[in-house]
Amino acid sequence: MIISGRRKEHLADTVQANPGMHAIELNIEDPASIASAAREVVTKYPMLNALINNAGIMHVDDVSGAIDDAVAVSTVTTNLLGPIRMTSALVEHLKKQKASAIINVSSVLGFLPLAVAAVYSSTKAALIPIRNRCVTSLRAVR
Ligand SMILES: NC(=O)c1ccc[n+]([C@@H]2O[C@H](COP(=O)([O-])OP(=O)(O)OC[C@H]3O[C@@H](n4cnc5c(N)ncnc54)[C@H](OP(=O)(O)O)[C@@H]3O)[C@@H](O)[C@H]2O)c1
Repeated sequence: MIISGRRKEHLADTVQANPGMHAIELNIEDPASIASAAREVVTKYPMLNALINNAGIMHVDDVSGAIDDAVAVSTVTTNLLGPIRMTSALVEHLKKQKASAIINVSSVLGFLPLAVAAVYSSTKAALIPIRNRCVTSLRAVR
């Protein structure tokens, strides 16, 4: 298993506590970091056959008033563009594997939105059509 995240020390501690686990630094908000992490993971672990898009952030908001633009952009970039970009970076590699999987971590709030986390709920709902498109189009990637 290869884990990723922004906090180098946290990754190192987790890997040390879990023999056999590996880590790659990644900021899913940054397209350059995604490209670099994808290159690294495919080079170091050519048998990689699964991608779990788990990184997600949730902030309280009130979309009936002015919202904090930076928080909204960060939430959409992390929760929606992150999985889209990460999948795009690895999908051709995954399609070459005998069997492979892409898992996007959504939320019940994508089905039953929470009024005080409307932006978050929207990003989780938006992952669902992407998943459906992959399921119907890709034979190797379920
Ligand atoms: N907790 C719940 O009740 C719940 C319910 C439904 C769905 N979910 C979903 O489950 C997933 C995990 O939730 P959680 O509660 O475990 O969250 P969490 O404890 O806050 O952990 C979030 C993880 O995402 C990583 N992350 C955040 N921003 C990142 C970025 N820009 N680039 C790379 N990694 C990033 C963090 O690592 P670094 O900070 O080191 O980068 C951390 O490992 C999320 O997608 C969340 O929406 C959670």
